[in-house]
Amino acid sequence: MMMTQRPRRLRSSELLREMVRETRISKESLIYPLFVREGRNVREEISSLPGQIRYSPDTVAQGVEKALASGVSRFLLFGIPEHKDPLGQGAYDPQGVVQQALRNLRAAFGHDVHLSGDVCLCEYTSHGHCGVLQGESVCNDATLDLLGKTALSQVAAGADLIAPSDMMDGRVGHIRRVLDEHGYASIPIMSYAAKYASAFYGPFREAAGSAPQRGDRRGYQMDPHNVREALKEVCLDVCEGADIVMVKPALAYLDVLRAVKEETVVPVAAYSVSGEYAMIQAAGRLGLMDQDRLMCETALSIYRAGADILITYHAKELAQAIIRGDLG
Ligand code: PBG
Repeated sequence: MMMTQRPRRLRSSELLREMVRETRISKESLIYPLFVREGRNVREEISSLPGQIRYSPDTVAQGVEKALASGVSRFLLFGIPEHKDPLGQGAYDPQGVVQQALRNLRAAFGHDVHLSGDVCLCEYTSHGHCGVLQGESVCNDATLDLLGKTALSQVAAGADLIAPSDMMDGRVGHIRRVLDEHGYASIPIMSYAAKYASAFYGPFREAAGSAPQRGDRRGYQMDPHNVREALKEVCLDVCEGADIVMVKPALAYLDVLRAVKEETVVPVAAYSVSGEYAMIQAAGRLGLMDQDRLMCETALSIYRAGADILITYHAKELAQAIIRGDLG
């Protein structure tokens, strides 16, 4: 059980050190991902992400309550449906898991929480790809339509922000148009603008059961060799209406974060993905390194590289470290 800590008193030498810090981290800039699966009364540990829990729509408020007690009030919701189909219908079902969870959380916490919805089809499709398949490849334009429906249904259920994590061309513009047409012009879009094809997503794919059954996502995720391509993606997304752009993963892409920060005028988010979390947890468990310090130093590097916002499975522990004064 995590206890909320009081800040400790500082000595004058420490007061100076804090005053001249070049990088600052606030708990207000942390977003905590939550996994919601179909069912009732579910609270199961995710084996690939020790310490992370899969909830059902009726129990997810418990996860939010705990995070609030630790100082975290921004969340990103991922859904894990019971039934998957080729068109990923669970993603845009008004009674889908994420939509139910959003409604329940809004009812329980009002506007004391900030709720983002991850918009992608890969958790909902039977083949595990991020869009509709035509033969062996993903059909971009047919997918756009479904992504628009997904975003709209999430906003109707109470989402404060939409985070499209597929990498279809034109999705930000399409989602923006759909939201505007339905009176949701004030709902911002945080686009996964620079999303690399990465081994660091391994634990997430187990958590969400979303590994592609055949093929891979290299057709629509970026090549880790490239950084200028990330700038192009960011530029396109901002032109299409992205309010926040994201780089993902974070740790192995700090140079990309820095480049994006320098090139763009919108806030930059970094997603420290499942593999980054799992790696730190494993190093701690094996006694190889001090887990808490590793977590803080890693987070710091991401902010130092240019992140304004950090999406991380360590959000609660980082908030506590900030409150303790170990990080900030
Ligand atoms: C796609 C999505 C993924 C992640 C976030 N959104 C998986 C993927 O692209 O395979 C990964 C997040 C993580 O690893 O923590 N809906």
